[in-house]
Amino acid sequence: MAARTGRALLAGVIGDPIAHSLSPAIHEYWLKSYGIDGSYVPLHVKGPRFTGMIEELRGLGFRGCNVTLPHKERAFALADWKDEAAEATGAVNTLVFSKEGIKGYNTDVSGFSENLKASLNPIDNYMDSCLVLGAGGAARGIIHALQLLGARQIFLSNRTHEKALKLAHELQSLKGEASSISCVPWEEKETVLKSVSLLINTTQLGMVGQPPLEINLDSLPNTAAVTDIVYKPLKTGLLEAGEARELRVADGLGMLLWQASPGFEMWFGKKPTVTAELRAMIEGLLG
Ligand code: ATR
Repeated sequence: MAARTGRALLAGVIGDPIAHSLSPAIHEYWLKSYGIDGSYVPLHVKGPRFTGMIEELRGLGFRGCNVTLPHKERAFALADWKDEAAEATGAVNTLVFSKEGIKGYNTDVSGFSENLKASLNPIDNYMDSCLVLGAGGAARGIIHALQLLGARQIFLSNRTHEKALKLAHELQSLKGEASSISCVPWEEKETVLKSVSLLINTTQLGMVGQPPLEINLDSLPNTAAVTDIVYKPLKTGLLEAGEARELRVADGLGMLLWQASPGFEMWFGKKPTVTAELRAMIEGLLG
């Protein structure tokens, strides 16, 4: 068990709202598991106070922090150095305070990939043709992750088609000749399912309190897989439909757990493992 002393390593998560965040439970679990003298605290910070709060935390000796909605673009703007995933997405979810300045990372991108690698091994089997639903901030990171994973064809479908076209254009030019991105009108998304090897929901459809995601999976090949970034409920309607087809599925909780890992390693000096016990503990908190 970690004892907290005056020398405890400090980190936290900044957001608005923040009370629902599962990050403190994940990091406190790892701190306890590895017997590290450290602490990870939730910090409720409204927009205008974000930059001042970062300076306060640096002054207090924090090693860094996670950043969640609505501050990911602010974190990007204030970081002195950014990793490749942050540059590609324009969003930072992990800050590390160092002598040289503030380093900004986007670990949502690697969190998505690591979860797929763990849940859908070998992931290359699913990289022929991916259909991404949604064209918001989450989709941007996920498409970048798919490009890095070597996706050969990406279909992008969004309720507001112009947003899909804009995002496809931006990401296509970023990665040059890599994955080809084609936009499919929202009403026609089922027509491409027959050639899709991985279906990804990046919208909030299917989340508790949101409308369901209406999509018929009948024409997905038997070899396809399905994943959802929504983790409340853990088994979304989309994942249930995938399982009814006996397809492999990867849930959204895995992405949340994996995105936490790089920050923990950089602040607390130990590369943590996403274990079944950690998953079970967080599932218990989801209720
Ligand atoms: P995030 O950062 O989580 O991606 P966002 O940037 O607000 O959040 O994006 C939300 C995504 O969910 C968008 O793709 C949005 O579609 P629009 O671009 O048309 O708004 C999608 N979305 C939200 N509610 C939806 C609904 N009822 N039907 C279809 N798509 C929806």
